[in-house]
Amino acid sequence: MAKRSCHTLRVEHLERPLMLDPISPRFSWMVEHPQDSYRLTVRDGNGTLAWDSGIVDSGQTTLIEYRGVPLEHDADYLWTVHSFSGTAEHTAESHFATAPDLSAWEAEWIEPAQEPTHREQHSFMDWIMGGAETSPADQRLRPAQLVRQELHIRPSLARARLFATAHGVYTAWINGQPVSDEVLAPGFDSYRHRLSVQGYDVLGMLRSGTNTLGFAVADGWWAGRIGLTGTSAQFGDRLALTWQLHLGFADGSTQVITSDSSAFSSTGPWNYSDLFIGESYDARRADESWMLPGFERPEWTPVRLLGVDASALVPFRGEPVRRVAQLPVASIDHRADGVLLDFGQVIAGRLRLKLRGQQRGQRITIEHTETLDAQGEWFQNIAGMNKEQTDHYICAGEAEEEWEPEFTFHGFRYVRVNGIGQLDPQDATAVVLSSDLEQAGGFRTSDERLNRLHQNVVWSQRANFLSIPTDCPQRERAGWSGDIQVFAGAAANNAGVYTFLSRWLENLRADQLPDGRIPILSPRSEHDAQSALESPGLGAIVAAAGWSDAVAILPWKLYERYGDPRVLEENYSAVRRWIEYQAAEAERGLPRGLEDLKLGPERLARQRLIYNSGPHFGDWLTPSTLEGDEPLHEAMDLAPKLTSEIVAPMFQIHTLDLAARMAEVLGHSAHAAQYSQRAGEVRSAFLAEYLGEDATLPVALQGMYALALGLDILPESKRLRAGEHLAALVRARGQRLDTGFLSTPFLLDALWDTGHQDLAREVLWQQQAPSWLYAVDHGATTIWEAWDAVDPSGQPRQVSMNHYAFGCVDDWLYRKVAGLTPMAPGWREARIEPDLSCGLDHAEAWIQSPFGRLAVNWKLEHGHLSVTTVVPFGLNAVLKLPGQQATLAPGTSVHHLDLFATAQ
Ligand code: BGC
Repeated sequence: MAKRSCHTLRVEHLERPLMLDPISPRFSWMVEHPQDSYRLTVRDGNGTLAWDSGIVDSGQTTLIEYRGVPLEHDADYLWTVHSFSGTAEHTAESHFATAPDLSAWEAEWIEPAQEPTHREQHSFMDWIMGGAETSPADQRLRPAQLVRQELHIRPSLARARLFATAHGVYTAWINGQPVSDEVLAPGFDSYRHRLSVQGYDVLGMLRSGTNTLGFAVADGWWAGRIGLTGTSAQFGDRLALTWQLHLGFADGSTQVITSDSSAFSSTGPWNYSDLFIGESYDARRADESWMLPGFERPEWTPVRLLGVDASALVPFRGEPVRRVAQLPVASIDHRADGVLLDFGQVIAGRLRLKLRGQQRGQRITIEHTETLDAQGEWFQNIAGMNKEQTDHYICAGEAEEEWEPEFTFHGFRYVRVNGIGQLDPQDATAVVLSSDLEQAGGFRTSDERLNRLHQNVVWSQRANFLSIPTDCPQRERAGWSGDIQVFAGAAANNAGVYTFLSRWLENLRADQLPDGRIPILSPRSEHDAQSALESPGLGAIVAAAGWSDAVAILPWKLYERYGDPRVLEENYSAVRRWIEYQAAEAERGLPRGLEDLKLGPERLARQRLIYNSGPHFGDWLTPSTLEGDEPLHEAMDLAPKLTSEIVAPMFQIHTLDLAARMAEVLGHSAHAAQYSQRAGEVRSAFLAEYLGEDATLPVALQGMYALALGLDILPESKRLRAGEHLAALVRARGQRLDTGFLSTPFLLDALWDTGHQDLAREVLWQQQAPSWLYAVDHGATTIWEAWDAVDPSGQPRQVSMNHYAFGCVDDWLYRKVAGLTPMAPGWREARIEPDLSCGLDHAEAWIQSPFGRLAVNWKLEHGHLSVTTVVPFGLNAVLKLPGQQATLAPGTSVHHLDLFATAQ
């Protein structure tokens, strides 16, 4: 392949975006040469120059802000970069399009004739009590709706964009052809505040004369079952659509056709479709002529017009959900209870089935699960509360038919098919669904278990980056803020997550409560709000330490990895409001043990600064707190009870530290000073209240020390001693970790930084649970929610097998094992310093930095080390090896070192 000298052109982190906000987009590109200066030009669809930056003497290649004439809405642009290097000029060009002005949206909402979806309210208590039983699915589920509208298109069409969204999830076709390969549009948002509008280029699908625009719309996140309790209709109980088709003609004229009263609706082959329960499809009723012009049937009824309401509409930002991979059957077993398919990998997705010679009306049932039991028998690790994950297909009776559900997905590795007789494994495919993010990193070593661990993280990321970042793709599918907060570092190594997570942060901010609370999950529905009001215990939590702090931690992490301050700007005022809430709560409440004591004025003043009251999840799922004989829901209460009082202020301090840094970057120096001062005050109060003389913390758990060290809470003078306490706690558990959700990302660093490198390595290589390799040794193909999700005999528990939170260790693998560490925002500076004593002969990793690929590959053979590095232009990297340090030139370098000689 020819070397491209200027490549990977992006606007707002995306290649060729179609729905860009026209206000000051930023341009980035990558170079294979030292750039002395650049020139950017932007031209509109007519070739008219909208901006010419002129020649700018700068090596900058990232995030250069547009400064031309105001960009139009719904317009196409061509942009060209000229990158100069000495006497050479390198040129590349790309396109982008802007979103329509949604405040001028003129299309009516159209509503198909329908029964509202069945409202099933389940409470947190139902869940605690083991899950409400579900009744036979068909009776309480309703069909997906079909909507068609004919369009008359004049000749000489030159441009055509369809903009659409729905209450529900939809697929759109023009004359029978899908308008895109996107699935489950419009995706999940906090719909009351934000509803994403998709933009599709449909020029190639329209013809002059009559065309048909067809939609199928199903309950999805809007009206279907979602969340821990599997409650339905959390955002609405009726399906509706709104769309606009923007046309441009060769003569320069334009036309907008909208959803209107000429649309008709009916039901079709989908008996029902629900994200949790599954889909039922009657192929006997599949007749694609409804998508084509000229179709008329008496049972189709006119849609109801609901008026124009654009209040929640926003342009979709980021990468849509697509079918990102297909897996063949790994093994098949025709058993008495059905045909068992194993795809060898836990995924989020669905089954595509080819059927041959089935009888008309034959009913095929497709069940999904992530694991079998120890005996290899069918086992549902997620059960009850509407979590059936079962699809039904009623055959048309054709010689060959093929089916994949349209509006549901499941978390699974195993599928049990019934009603089919013999199945040829070639006829079944697992279709993997995920938000279609760019793969931005890779990691491999000479140890297959570590490789598998990394792959498990990547698979859990893929399955849970599905429209929003979720905790798990089967049981809840909820946007838990704590989970993504701990995983963000790992996530950013593996995929281009900037836009995906920024969009989710928009939801999180939209869900911020008037008093400043950032909710524990987003999108958050009215049902979530109500359920918190009515629930006891953990179910009552609205905001929580380490969860709500995602509003500061995530933007900062994105800034560190992508160097884009806009994410700080976008979230800054939400962070400020969250901080004020914490301060007000600190002032108001005392922790339980202190409420009845008469505190002296000094202690009272300190306590009034510390956010240490109220219910939190604490260091959630700390292993040793789950070891008793209590039922799981009782045991789960223990970590919150034990740790919240200490964990909450540590995150309060961390968020204040981050706010100070954010303010600094954003140029609010007075705020920066205020926040640093406040962080100092709260820190001093916390240390005076909780840190013992000998650097002890009141709760002797690894997680407390890992957090105190990792979040930089302790004074320098106490760090090493605290590290010793941590090391002692780790040794007391036999070199096994005992950290919960919040502290796990910090454990290995905390050990390492306080001089316990060998112990950190032992924890990484530990094979007894709790440990990362225990899961690998026990057949995990994704990251489990609990360290002992499968017991040593192979018996699984009723927990999620696909929860990325504990996969946060993947960041350690890149940083320490391979040695790639970002040292300045956006990888402008990097340190490459592999851990050569980690027990491996070889490790390699690469990262797609904003400047291009940064890679390391090290090998040890008989004491001889060779390190190959690849450094992109614009990124300053140093290589640190025992006894030496080198600044790396752009391009490929190879370093050799005789380690025996170094050791002498
Ligand atoms: C979810 C978690 C989440 C937690 C809150 C669970 O049910 O699956 O991952 O963060 O609740 O404690």
